Amino acid sequence: MKKICTLAALSATVFFLVNCSNKTGKAISGKPATSHFTDTTVYTPAQLNEGMALYKAPCAECHKLHAASEFNANDWDGILVGMLPRTHLSKSDGLTVRAYLLANAKKD
Ligand code: HEC
Repeated sequence: MKKICTLAALSATVFFLVNCSNKTGKAISGKPATSHFTDTTVYTPAQLNEGMALYKAPCAECHKLHAASEFNANDWDGILVGMLPRTHLSKSDGLTVRAYLLANAKKD
């Protein structure tokens, strides 16, 4: 009986930790009010991490990498209209990068 209680307590702790340690991003529907993009995908935290990884190399080719928190979501949306076509990112990779930036954008 004691073993079962310990096990239950342990799995509750693990469950709690797993749920609370996911700070990388929340799922977003990728749609600021005045979006130039039509992307209704709901991104998982794993996909947002992928967006962060995809962002680094192509977007630092011509200038320093701007932190996601430098701009709010609407500003990023406008910037990306001009910047994504300057990279070799595929359309879906570009949208994943956008989702990462919007999810971590400056809150206004
Ligand atoms: C081919 C070169 C090139 C690539 C690749 C590129 N940029 Fe830029 N970026 C520029 C230039 C040049 C400017 C200066 C402003 C302009 O020309 O629009 C700029 C400006 C910016 C700015 C500043 C905008 C402002 O209002 O201060 C941001 C943010 C930015 N880029 C983000 C990105 C992101 C994100 C990516 C990847 C998707 C990217 N850039 C890829 C050339 C590039």
